[in-house]
Amino acid sequence: MKIDDEKYENMMFYYKSALRLLETELDTLIYENKIKTGYNPVEHVKTRIKSKESIFQKLKNKNYEINCYNIIEYIYDVVGIRIICAFITDIPLIIDIIKNDKNISIIKEKDYIKNPKATGYRSYHLIVTFPVPTANGTKDIKCEIQIRTLAMDFWASIDHKIQYKFSNTIPKEVTNQLFKYSKNISQIDQTMVELNNIVNEYKEKAS
Ligand code: GTP
Ligand code: MG
Repeated sequence: MKIDDEKYENMMFYYKSALRLLETELDTLIYENKIKTGYNPVEHVKTRIKSKESIFQKLKNKNYEINCYNIIEYIYDVVGIRIICAFITDIPLIIDIIKNDKNISIIKEKDYIKNPKATGYRSYHLIVTFPVPTANGTKDIKCEIQIRTLAMDFWASIDHKIQYKFSNTIPKEVTNQLFKYSKNISQIDQTMVELNNIVNEYKEKAS
């Protein structure tokens, strides 16, 4: 099945616009929140546009014909934004900031922190739509926002290199170890919150 290249590129133009605009929107939200509360829960933000090969592969895996309609309808992560924070307690703050925004509409929420995946993967996912201006009015474009701690990001990045998308062919020993270390990472995240609380209390008493 061959996709019309021109139609594909036209469609991608709107996804790229959505990425730029949503990134700017998030910058503003993070800035305004810092002004309002004096605290910035965000360490850094990473973005990417899904490659053509990955988009086609995902449609194939889901048994959908490869065409622009199916991409728009069934692929939620053409636009990917990852928000990384230091503490696990920063995650609800970031979710709140996003939920309070008037321009971002949330269409799906997946809490892989409360319910980690069988691999051990932890993160909070929001599938959102963001309005992109066009000559014919605004188009709502689907985007995936992943929120995770530095420690979760460390685990997920390495897991992605080692096993994600190959999980049937890699030795059980490896998947078991990765799963074990994801639990260790989760304990580290808890401990860092406790250490931070101790320091904050200490600072308060000292001031
Ligand atoms: P994908 O087809 O992989 O995008 O999954 P999905 O559309 O069914 O959604 P899901 O919420 O399961 O995963 C979305 C994204 O989360 C993936 O594209 C990855 O970035 C990330 N992810 C999910 N599971 C894992 C995992 O086990 N390991 C790693 N490293 N990342 C994962
Ligand atoms: Mg994905």
